[in-house]
Amino acid sequence: MPNAAKPEFPQIRPRRLRRTAALRRLVAETRVHPSDLVLPVFVKEGLREPVAIRSMPGVHQHSVDSVRKLAVEAARAGIGGLMPFGIPAVRDAEGSGATDPDGILNVTMRAIREEVHDDLVVIPDLCLDEFTDHGHCGVLRPDGTVDNDATLVRYAEMGRCLAEAGADLLGASGMMDGQIGYVRAHLDANGHQDTGLLAYAAKYASAFYGPFRDAVESQLQGDRRTYQQDSPNATEALLEIDLDIEQGADIVMVKPALPYLDIVRAAAERSPVPVAAYHISGEYAQLMAAAEKGWIDKDAAILESLTSIKRAGARIIATYAALDAVRLLR
Ligand code: PBG
Repeated sequence: MPNAAKPEFPQIRPRRLRRTAALRRLVAETRVHPSDLVLPVFVKEGLREPVAIRSMPGVHQHSVDSVRKLAVEAARAGIGGLMPFGIPAVRDAEGSGATDPDGILNVTMRAIREEVHDDLVVIPDLCLDEFTDHGHCGVLRPDGTVDNDATLVRYAEMGRCLAEAGADLLGASGMMDGQIGYVRAHLDANGHQDTGLLAYAAKYASAFYGPFRDAVESQLQGDRRTYQQDSPNATEALLEIDLDIEQGADIVMVKPALPYLDIVRAAAERSPVPVAAYHISGEYAQLMAAAEKGWIDKDAAILESLTSIKRAGARIIATYAALDAVRLLR
């Protein structure tokens, strides 16, 4: 005789759906897919061989030749796109290398396009900081402050060059006021209506950019606090996101990712255009350093980080771990 039904405690047992890996897989609410991921890549003028970046284990400064191979590997892996950053041999106050058709980022852009055609979305960085000798994201006034409107003129010209070199989207990362509208108008006036803008809409002045500055050999003295956002502020991020959408952003991005998941969520709730998040150099470096010490499981930590960013609402994730993640997702 089966026992007579009697009210038992607890009646609802959420653990049932966690019992096996198959059950957990079936009910997973968030899945990271290779095509969600965008891999940032560094290309240095004059390099012959890739050079490892000390503070970013597994990441290299590439030569134009080696980035071609990496692009093919990325396309084969099925990731969504590449975000190239250029490291010029010579820098100056205006960042002239950014608008030289033979400058490293323009050369890289053409090389990647030639190699992968339209199989990957290519999103070169639209910012002057890699090209200026003072390391700021814009041009300076005589008093050393960043001149917003003079910088817009430089961005517009840089954007036109990158569009000519074959960019799908431009990663507008400089945090100048009005940059999206200004670059959009200049692209349109020059026949580049089909080149899109990925706006780094809510980009915070972050301590976690440190390894990136090693990667691009940044010359920056001081900080970017007069143009990047202040970390206590969330409402301000909504204004930045709205402004970029009004000005024609095709995608809006939040950066960094994990320390700002509240902003990612807010962006996802309000934005009619896709939301991206950038799991930045310092976020990546923390995982690698702890894993090297044997303090965390690297693979699990990568997947958990990316899943959390997607769960918060990012449809696209820029991450240095993109190729590792694809291996883990298989
Ligand atoms: C600026 C730019 C930065 C990063 C991407 N674009 C650096 C900065 O704002 O100082 C950082 C990305 C990372 O840390 O991974 N062009």
